[in-house]
Amino acid sequence: MIYYILCSLLNFSFFLVPVTALRKFPTAPTASWPCLGPVSPPDPLVHLGTKLVNDAAHPWMPPRVGDQRGPCPGLNVLASHGYLPRNGVATTVQLINAVQEGFNMENRLAKIFVYSTLIVNGNPLTNLLSIGGMTPLTGPDPPSPAVVAGLNAGGLFEGDASMSRADGYFGNSHEFNTGVFDQFKSFSANYGNGFYNFTVAPKLRHHLFQQSRQNNPEVSFTEFRWFSAHAKSVFPVNFFVDGRNYTGQLSMDAAEAFFKDGRFPDDFWRAPAPVGLEGMGEVSSMSSVELISFCRLYTNVINMAAKDLYPNPTGLLRTNLIKNMRWLFEAVDDPDCAEIFPYGRVDE
Ligand code: HEM
Repeated sequence: MIYYILCSLLNFSFFLVPVTALRKFPTAPTASWPCLGPVSPPDPLVHLGTKLVNDAAHPWMPPRVGDQRGPCPGLNVLASHGYLPRNGVATTVQLINAVQEGFNMENRLAKIFVYSTLIVNGNPLTNLLSIGGMTPLTGPDPPSPAVVAGLNAGGLFEGDASMSRADGYFGNSHEFNTGVFDQFKSFSANYGNGFYNFTVAPKLRHHLFQQSRQNNPEVSFTEFRWFSAHAKSVFPVNFFVDGRNYTGQLSMDAAEAFFKDGRFPDDFWRAPAPVGLEGMGEVSSMSSVELISFCRLYTNVINMAAKDLYPNPTGLLRTNLIKNMRWLFEAVDDPDCAEIFPYGRVDE
C-alpha cells in the first residue's frame, strides 16, 4: 500500500489503477515495482571481454515454489544464478544488464528483445516481465484487454518447433522436454561429431520445422516466430560455448547444463566479445522464407501487438508505453525505419 500511495502522489494518473487490483498481492508492493516510470536503457558493458560468470557471487540455486522459469534457457540460467532476481520477475534494465553481464549479449539485440517482449508479454505499468508464467509479482495489472502473461504465453518469440520444448499443441511448451532435446543430441552426434555447431544448426532447424508441420495440426509460424526460431538456433553456439579459447563447438554436457538443468557449467566463462545473431545467415540458408527485419519487427510490435493490447492507454501507462516504444525504436537504429506514435509523444 505504501508503494501505491507513493506512486499516486508522484503521478496522479496512477489512481487509474483500480484499488482492487492491488488487493490480490500476497505481500506489500516493494521498491522492486518502480513507479517513477521506466529508467533509460543500460549502456553497453565497460569490460567487453570474457570473464568467469559462474563465480562465487552467483551460485546456482534451484527455483523455489512460486519462482518463475520458462521457455528461455538463457534467462532461466540467469535467474537461477542471481544475475536476474531469483523469482524470475525482472525490470527491463535488470534484463538488459543480466544478458550483457552473464552472457555478453550485445547491447542492441538485448534492447530489441527486452523492449519488444515487455510490450507484448510484460507489464508496462511497472516495467516488470515474468520469464515464466503469469504472476502477481509483476505488480498491478494494466486495464483489459492487456494481459500480463509472461514469456510462457507466447505471442511474440515463443512458439512451435523449439529445440528443447514441445509444441503447445502437445501440452507444455515451456518446460524442458527430453524427447525433443534428444533430437538436438542425435543431430549433434550425426553432423557435428558430438558437438552442436553451425553445421548442425541449419539441419536441426529445418528438421524441427518439418516435424512440427507434419505432426502438429495446429502448427503456427508467425513471422516473429520464424525470426526467433532461427535466432535461438544460433544462441547455443554464440552464448553457451565457453569464452576461453572459443571454439564454436558446444559439448553435450554443457548443452545439458543450460537446457536441462538451467545452470552454467562449472567454471563457465561468458563469450569473448559482445555477440548477437552471428551465424543466423547460415542457419536460415535451408529455408525459403525471408527473415523479418528489425524495422518490421518494431513496426509490427507497435501496430499489431501494442495497439491490440493497449487500445487507449492513459496516464502513467501511456507515458511508459511511449518511452518503451521509443527505446525499442532507438535500438532498431535503422535510418530507413519510420518511427510510429500511436499514443502521441510524452509531452503532448
Ligand atoms: C534478452 C532477452 C531474452 C528474451 C526476451 C528471450 C526470450 C525467449 C523466448 C520467449 C524463448 C522461447 C522461444 C521458443 O519457443 O523456442 C526463448 C528461447 C531460447 N532462448 Fe531466449 N530470450 C532472451 C535472451 C536469451 C539469451 C541471452 C540466451 C542465451 C544465452 C537465450 C537463449 C535461448 C535459447 C537457446 C532458446 C531456445 C530454446 C529452445 O528452442 O528450446 N535467450 N527465449
